[in-house]
Amino acid sequence: MRLAVLISGRGSNLRSILESERKGSLGKAIVSLIISDKRDAKGLKYSKEYNKKAIILESNSYNSREEYDNQLLKVLHEHDIDLIVLAGFMRILTPFFVNKFINRIVNIHPSLLPAFPGLNAQKQALNHGSKISGCTVHFVSEEVDVGPIILQRAVDISNDDTEESLSQKILKHEHEILPLALKLISEGKISIKERNIIVEE
Ligand code: GRF
Repeated sequence: MRLAVLISGRGSNLRSILESERKGSLGKAIVSLIISDKRDAKGLKYSKEYNKKAIILESNSYNSREEYDNQLLKVLHEHDIDLIVLAGFMRILTPFFVNKFINRIVNIHPSLLPAFPGLNAQKQALNHGSKISGCTVHFVSEEVDVGPIILQRAVDISNDDTEESLSQKILKHEHEILPLALKLISEGKISIKERNIIVEE
């Protein structure tokens, strides 16, 4: 199963996927391509470190979202990509694009969806006084952060947690469940019944 991992920044989730592949714990999945929409994304350094091809697709070279997504589709097809992984990719994809890859785009989000979708999920959880938060791996649907849930992990929020400390706690689990979800998908252990995902671990 050929993966394209899409990033915009730090790339710690990309690194956890590459590390899992290196250790042989990514099942039948292989990272075939890294795509960044930011030329200066820190995570791009992992392409060299792990000897993977990276392509930069910056939005300012395109006139519209549709044009951008068409170029993205072209690149994905040229590389024979089976599954797209959004690992901190900060662009919203057009419904046209999502429907071309339905149930073949996976996202990691730093909250227990459907709570706290969108930006600054950790801050939202703290501001809400939540006692628990966590992270979610889900398939991407047309609307942001609402697609079928594949795996989740919960963390406790303590009174002295800050946005930074909570983000770090959650990130540790992100780095485990994202590669695990990819492994399970690549081994055919995830099936979808309407909106419900059945995971056979
Ligand atoms: C992660 O917290 C992820 O859940 C969110 O964006 C952040 C990306 O971090 N979608 P990194 O670039 O993988 O380090």
